Amino acid sequence: MATARVRVVARLMVAAAAAAVMCLSCAAAARSPEARMHRHLKRLNKPAVKSIESPDGDIIDCVHISHQPAFDHPFLKNHTIQMRPNYHPEGLFDESKANVASSGDGERPMVQLWHQKGRCPEGTVPVRRTKKDDLLRASSIRRYGRKRHTVANPMSVDLSMLNEGGHQHAISYVQGEKYYGAKATINVWEPKIEQPNEFSLSQLWILGGTFGEDLNSIEAGWQVSPDLYGDNHTRLFTYWTSDAYQATGCYNILCAGFVQINSEVAMGASIFPISGYSGSQYDISILIWKDPKEGHWWMQFGKEYVLGYWPSFLFSYLADSASMIEWGGEVVNSQPGGVHTSTQMGSGHFPEEGFSKSSYFKNIQVVDNTNNLKAPKGVGTFTEQSNCYDVQNGNNGDWGSYFYYGGPGRSASCQ
Ligand SMILES: *[C@@H]1O[C@H](CO)[C@@H](O)[C@H](O)[C@H]1NC(C)=O
Ligand SMILES: *[C@@H]1O[C@H](CO)[C@@H](O)[C@H](O)[C@H]1NC(C)=O
Repeated sequence: MATARVRVVARLMVAAAAAAVMCLSCAAAARSPEARMHRHLKRLNKPAVKSIESPDGDIIDCVHISHQPAFDHPFLKNHTIQMRPNYHPEGLFDESKANVASSGDGERPMVQLWHQKGRCPEGTVPVRRTKKDDLLRASSIRRYGRKRHTVANPMSVDLSMLNEGGHQHAISYVQGEKYYGAKATINVWEPKIEQPNEFSLSQLWILGGTFGEDLNSIEAGWQVSPDLYGDNHTRLFTYWTSDAYQATGCYNILCAGFVQINSEVAMGASIFPISGYSGSQYDISILIWKDPKEGHWWMQFGKEYVLGYWPSFLFSYLADSASMIEWGGEVVNSQPGGVHTSTQMGSGHFPEEGFSKSSYFKNIQVVDNTNNLKAPKGVGTFTEQSNCYDVQNGNNGDWGSYFYYGGPGRSASCQ
């Protein structure tokens, strides 16, 4: 075994020496965009035990759990993967209550489109394969999956920030306490995106630190982003940063960080089914909480899928606790042709239209310093231009703390 490897290495060295002599432009070739792209794809796409082709064109690679991208992180070299959280916060709301997305007929509810074509074996994690085309759409290979996005700052009184980067939000938020997690049930839509460089997303933000400087953020929800995924499908996504979207962090597992343990749900894969206007409503639940023992931030999708965790060492402020939680929508308005984009947020309809027409977050909760889920206190709302995208919150017995949000973008009152 060892001698065989030595022989192979020796042969490679001879070949490399010959190549170095014969090919004077090899160094240049290695620096070529093509070679860089190839290397980047190799870094992102780990060897698969099995690959599944989803009806939307995605390839889902089932990667052995110990070969996942997280372990490229130098701090994770000796990491013992945690297969379950030490602690799971208890909630106010019993999730066995009617959940439209669960079929209730004893079958596993379908939550991602690729499940139509198979499942990943135990001991592997599903990873959406990054293709050459994905990188070609990015402004730079290195930036793929790291593209700057933003967070609403409800405290900013400076409305000149309004069109900075053209990001618009309609959110609910709480601040002023130490938070150890958050939860929400969000119905899922497929908003129309006018320009490929725009996106529309609905998510929760777990925040610590200072806006624009050293903000720590953990984010999860659904998004439509033609630039990131090459189509208009609604996808489950996560994001993290520990320096206000500058050098650290990325979407999904497009950089080393998040440690996945679940073999059934792929980050960045399409969600299925989607809600229809005046039709069936489908929602997803997301819970993110901090394990009080190890300090890692865990994520659960739906009732049963504990996806994995962001190790505590990725963060500064969030290594302790969060100081603010936001829930809601964000779109990019690139002002095509000098007018407001018609890219939709949520269902593309305003909150006033209510159930089955407008998009909602319900049972929004926070994890408090006793590690219990509780209703958020003093929920505020924020939107830059309520005539384009709006938010309205409420409270009742079934839905707890909830809000409707979203809108159509460009209209007679939104130019
Ligand atoms: C990992 O473990 C090895 C052997 O115990 C040790 O030499 C090395 O320093 C460790 N690396 C890190 C990053 O902790
Ligand atoms: C996405 O939607 C836009 C308009 O809403 C359309 O122009 C574009 O062709 C769609 N892209 C794909 C890949 O279907």
